Amino acid sequence: MVDGDMTTIGIIGAGNIGSNFAKAAIAKGYDVVISNSRGPETLGDLMSELGAKATAATAEDAATAGDFVLVAVPLKNYREVPVDPLVGKLVIDANNYYFERDGQIPALDNNETTTAQMLQEHLPDSHVVKAFNNIPAKDIPTDGTATGTENRRALPIAGNDANAKERVTALLDEFGFDAVDVGPLEDSWRVERDRPAYVVRSNADELRDRIAEAVR
Ligand SMILES: NC(=O)c1ccc[n+]([C@@H]2O[C@H](COP(=O)([O-])OP(=O)(O)OC[C@H]3O[C@@H](n4cnc5c(N)ncnc54)[C@H](OP(=O)(O)O)[C@@H]3O)[C@@H](O)[C@H]2O)c1
Repeated sequence: MVDGDMTTIGIIGAGNIGSNFAKAAIAKGYDVVISNSRGPETLGDLMSELGAKATAATAEDAATAGDFVLVAVPLKNYREVPVDPLVGKLVIDANNYYFERDGQIPALDNNETTTAQMLQEHLPDSHVVKAFNNIPAKDIPTDGTATGTENRRALPIAGNDANAKERVTALLDEFGFDAVDVGPLEDSWRVERDRPAYVVRSNADELRDRIAEAVR
């Protein structure tokens, strides 16, 4: 672990992203406290798979326990993410907008906001960083490589807080990925669904090019 004071990650959403992120985090020595919408008693199979460094909890308890927290729920449910326990914390936002699942969200359809800004507005006193939204979930624990590996996979991050972005850059490096900074949350549309960079495996140079090519 890069930062010895940040050893427990809260995870809100225990589906594809939450569970694969948990595997990667545990492999790097973190403890995870992971939650879904139905309650910790429904997470038995996942707990058996993840082992002793994982605890099943409510979303409220995962948010409280985490030194920092991953949000990986269907976007339509983002307002259910607990606010108070996340005050002052780094919150990593992996969500993407699928109108087929989430329903039409006019502010996104009209390019007035981004998914990450919506979560930041819901969590005004947290430090939201967009990350892990640009990689198929199953690749998170399997596609990382050592720092400096040729053609290492790069993932985009966006956020308004420099310290929070530094922390996520270090986490990505630990998981085996380079980070490319897209800018503040308002620029994260560049790496949302259907943009050139979206879930395409890219190294850092390729990712920078794909981010620059994006047209809103
Ligand atoms: N799948 C991917 O490869 C991928 C890649 C990048 C980004 N994303 C994005 O990441 C987000 C999650 O995707 P996913 O594929 O992991 O979804 P998923 O497999 O459907 O899992 C969603 C999880 O969120 C939980 N959840 C729903 N509402 C919740 C709430 N209010 N509190 C706590 N947990 C809640 C669900 O719990 P229950 O099952 O109990 O309802 C489930 O565990 C989406 O926005 C998706 O677009 C996905």
